[in-house]
Formats: sequence, C-alpha cells, structure tokens
Amino acid sequence: MSELRAKRPVVIAIDGPAASGKSSTSKWVAERLGVHHADSGALYRAATAARLRAEGAPDVWTEQSVLAAAAAVTFVPGKTSFEVRLDGTAADEELRGAGVTDQVSLVAKMPSVRAWVNERIRECALGSSIVVDGRDMGTAVFPDAALKIFLIADPWERARRRLVQRLGRSPSEDEIAVETDDIVKRDAKDATQTQQAADAILIDTTYLTQAEQVDRIVALARAVGG
Ligand code: CDP
Repeated sequence: MSELRAKRPVVIAIDGPAASGKSSTSKWVAERLGVHHADSGALYRAATAARLRAEGAPDVWTEQSVLAAAAAVTFVPGKTSFEVRLDGTAADEELRGAGVTDQVSLVAKMPSVRAWVNERIRECALGSSIVVDGRDMGTAVFPDAALKIFLIADPWERARRRLVQRLGRSPSEDEIAVETDDIVKRDAKDATQTQQAADAILIDTTYLTQAEQVDRIVALARAVGG
C-alpha cells in the first residue's frame, strides 16, 4: 500500500544540475513513499546510446536519426524505478559511460527528442503518484506538480560524490579537480535546459548527508500528499 496517502495522484518533481544527487535521492524518496520513480536523464542517455550504436559520427546526427534510434528504447516499471531497456536489455554501464555522457547534452537540445522524453515521463505518471527527476520536470513537464524540489551542491562536492560512486573509493584531490572541471563544463552545456521553477524549494546538499536530504523531501511530500 502506498505510504503517500494522496486523495489523487501527486507528482513530486526533483530537478537540479549534473551530479547533484537527483536520481539516487529520487529513488530513495520514492521507496520511502511507496511510489514509483522515473529518471528523465536516463531516457536522454538511452536515446544517445541508441544513436551511438547506429552509424555516423555525432556531428552528422540529425534529430530524425536520433528519434529513429530511440525506437529501440523501452521504459518498463521495475520494483521502484522505471528501467530503461535498449533493444530489450538493460544497458546501465553503457548509459553511464563517457561516450554517452559526452554527447547527451547535444541530443538533449533536440526539440523532438525532448518531446519524446516528456511523453514517456508523462505516461509513467498516468493514474498513480510518482517521483520524477531531471532538469525541467517542475517547469516544462509537470508545471502543476504538487511538490517541486531543486537540488544544488558545490561543484567540488558534486565531483567528489560522482567519483566515489564511479570508483567505489575516496578520490584524490587531483582526480576531484579534473572531475570538477568536467562538471562545470556540463553545467554550461546544459544551462538552457536546467530550469528552477519559481515555486520550487531549493535545497543545497553540500553539507547534508543523503539520508538528511531524503528525510527533508519525504516530510515535504507527506505534507502535500493529503
Ligand atoms: O549525470 P547527471 O545525473 O547529472 O545527468 P542525467 O540526469 O543522467 O542527465 C543526462 C543529460 O540529459 C544531462 O546532462 C542533460 O543534458 C539531459 N537532461 C535534460 O536535458 N533534461 C532532463 N530533464 C534530464 C536530463
């Protein structure tokens, strides 16, 4: 039974810049509330990975060819999160790999790809409460979301967390410096599609543990859940 006792389905939109912890936080919040989670970034990554599997260097990619490749992507409900399948199989490593990360901002600028992602995410919200995460969930996709959160953190701290996640150990200062540079560059590439809704609650997680930020969002969600 859902712990989010809403009278009608509610959408909780969690947005923020690269490596701000949106996806892991959203997943955990969804688990605590007993609802599903959908990560829009995973769909942008999947469309990019699907296009990379086809022929042609990124500088000749057309919107049409990315959309055609995206036909190989399905988004299926798992235990907590909707999961991406590429040609019918999970491809998490490929989705998080450097090849996809380098090209995903380009793909995410294509209006028809954005429309395709937005439609998939709205389908996930049909008839049930959901936690969605990305960059424009609280603005373009669910302007009427019951709760909007915008997560930020200092770039150095975001870089450190991303490296811990990727390497499974404490990174060196040099490693963090290189990763910080990458994150700041991606922030710039994604600037137009990263939008904080006027009515979003801003949470700076630089000095928060993940458990603390999850607790805060769960409490806010319960307050709007009715
Ligand atoms: O790596 P990170 O968790 O920051 O990003 P992600 O959530 O996996 O999203 C990958 C990329 O998809 C971003 O760098 C954006 O270019 C794009 N994206 C977007 O434009 N709009 C969204 N709602 C979500 C992601």
